[in-house]
Amino acid sequence: MTGSKTRLGWSDVTPQHLFMNRRQMIGASVAWAGLAGTAMAATDDAVSPYSTDAEPNSFEDITQYCNFYEFGTGKGDPARFAGALTTDPWAVQIDGMVDRPGSYDLGDILSKVTLEERIYRFRCVEAWSMVIPWTGFELRSLLEQVGVQPGAKYVAMETLLRPEEMPGQRRRSLDWPYREGLRLDEAMHPLTIMATGLYGQDLPNQNGAPLRLVVPWKYGFKSIKSVVRITLTDTQPETTWNMLAPREYGFYSNVNPTVDHPRWSQATERAVGGGLFAKRQPTLMYNGYGDEVASLYDGMDLAEHY
Ligand code: MTE
Repeated sequence: MTGSKTRLGWSDVTPQHLFMNRRQMIGASVAWAGLAGTAMAATDDAVSPYSTDAEPNSFEDITQYCNFYEFGTGKGDPARFAGALTTDPWAVQIDGMVDRPGSYDLGDILSKVTLEERIYRFRCVEAWSMVIPWTGFELRSLLEQVGVQPGAKYVAMETLLRPEEMPGQRRRSLDWPYREGLRLDEAMHPLTIMATGLYGQDLPNQNGAPLRLVVPWKYGFKSIKSVVRITLTDTQPETTWNMLAPREYGFYSNVNPTVDHPRWSQATERAVGGGLFAKRQPTLMYNGYGDEVASLYDGMDLAEHY
């Protein structure tokens, strides 16, 4: 360890900045073109076909109303306490059934993937929802680079364990580190992304900086934050909420309005930011992503595999 920071961190050298600069430049040029009455197409800022056209929540909603138990169990705790988390340097250990296991610097990972904006619906198991404009890359592009071995069937992920900076980890509210997992075909699905930003900015710490999973057709707790380890395995991994209350939180946790949580209905949801008198909205099967993902579960009993 050296005392002074002479080495560049991942955030000094990553394409996130290029992406953002380009985006800001495009934004500026479009505004200017509008003023000048010139048509100027922002062709390389195309909207992803995977993005919803629903109106995104405000930056404030998304960053002030969070679940990140490492910083406390209150919705406002992550915004208050996550600033203390050091996110640069950041490395991700990729191991298990891969051809090229190792500790990968986040900068190296980001230099080899394509970042894009994905505006996704987000549905928490607690029956609230948001629409979030993420920046990220497809998880499959990372997995393809490290080489998934033929016998691998699942992808397990872990969050950083650092109680010095994560006060919630000094209590046993959950069995730390936070763990999640996907079946390999779910992880390889193009909707599954690793997010590094939202609203075109680096991911705020409270939303899982510098790198978090986003799986838009599953309840939000599957979308594990601040990931430091990715393991390819042939056995279904243990997952935090399932370990705590297996009858309430299944491994799959696909959004499903017909399978209620034992303590509340999943048929409707409260759109965060909708105001005090807003009507609850119906919850959609697979959170509205059924056309893309329903075939992953053909022939499965979804009440059993909740
Ligand atoms: N990841 C970690 N490491 N710790 C957590 O407590 N909470 C989960 C998920 N990922 C959580 C986590 C839950 S319950 C939800 S709903 C989402 O993060 C919330 O993401 P957001 O705060 O960015 O909306």
